[in-house]
Amino acid sequence: MDYQIALIPGDGIGREVIPAGVKVLEVLAKEFQFGLQLTEFPFSCAYYRQHGEMMPADGLEQLRPFQAILLGAVGAPNVADHVSLWGLLLPIRRQFEQYVNLRPVRLLNGISSPLAGRTAADIDFLVVRENTEGEYSDIGGRLFTGTDREVVVQESVFTRKGVDRVIRFACETAMNRPARHLTSATKSNGIRFTMPYWDERFRAVTADYPDLRCDQFHIDILTAHFVQHPDWFDVVVGSNLFGDILSDLGPAVAGGIGVAPSANLNVEREFPSMFEPVHGSAPDIAGQGVANPIATFWSIQMMLDFLGEAPAGAALMAAVEKVTGDGFLTRDLGGSETTDSFTERVIGSLS
Ligand code: NAD
Ligand code: IPM
Ligand code: MN
Repeated sequence: MDYQIALIPGDGIGREVIPAGVKVLEVLAKEFQFGLQLTEFPFSCAYYRQHGEMMPADGLEQLRPFQAILLGAVGAPNVADHVSLWGLLLPIRRQFEQYVNLRPVRLLNGISSPLAGRTAADIDFLVVRENTEGEYSDIGGRLFTGTDREVVVQESVFTRKGVDRVIRFACETAMNRPARHLTSATKSNGIRFTMPYWDERFRAVTADYPDLRCDQFHIDILTAHFVQHPDWFDVVVGSNLFGDILSDLGPAVAGGIGVAPSANLNVEREFPSMFEPVHGSAPDIAGQGVANPIATFWSIQMMLDFLGEAPAGAALMAAVEKVTGDGFLTRDLGGSETTDSFTERVIGSLS
């Protein structure tokens, strides 16, 4: 098979981890005998400073024919975040109906949890984040700017289609795991309309899955449980914002943001899906060559799985865990490997 993949390294360490990912992808393509057509797009904050937009007006049309998009990170200190993200990353997720943001959390071999006494047996769950609506909406505005009557309104949008499809995906995913356990993140005690609706749809959709053990927690105590009882969780489904928060917190108990992968899935494959590390452009370490590429490698594993090259993806993660298991770690995990040296070790363990 020949795969058409769009690369968007983006900004900051995105420009370091995506080249590392391309190196391992090329080795895997040779070893597992699949074809790769990689097309790089310069869409980024640097592009914005030159052209006044994060991508050209037909940017999404340019990306449309690809089977998958591999993205690094978007954001730079000299461009407002709401401009850069609403100009590139969020339109891709929304226009291509990548309504599931799948974010696994697992303690990898050789990485220790900051939670005393916790091992790999305790930390292995999936965050399923709604990815196209909810609290991330462009409906709202500001009036009386700069006066003492200033008022800002931001709407949340929860549609039956949008809520049901992500909960259904979470149900199906949980049914395929041994624990068959699904947790919903809610806040129906404080949020007046959207969260009671989320709970109602959670009950309605999960009713089709009598073999699933279902529970729900308010997002505030759920964050505490992630720290105190990570072993309680298997699949956790949440709205866009709650899923965002949980998917930084989850990896924090498993080594941090440098190892957190994600898959933005258009489940029906009508549009391209996008694979990206959960982390951002990390301006504080960009240019130093020390970014941890594991989040990108793991995202590539998810992409290979999605493309039907699961054995290649499994080999990649086995190689990563061989290297981490041998004690070679990047600086964020307490080691002294650079992006390049870690990548070379992974490639060495692959062949
Ligand atoms: P961030 O993820 O960029 O960085 C948070 C901290 O984690 C920093 O100390 C950084 O050095 C560290 N870190 C992140 N990735 C790492 C890696 N691979 N290896 C080692 N250390 C790593 O989050 P932030 O500081 O909130 O955001 C910086 C910029 O990135 C902002 O513009 C933000 O909007 C953007 N952002 C983009 C995305 C995305 O493109 N998906 C995600 C999050 C943040
Ligand atoms: C993520 C990021 C993005 C999000 C930001 C950069 C808009 O934090 O991918 O988790 O909130 O979705
Ligand atoms: Mn986030």
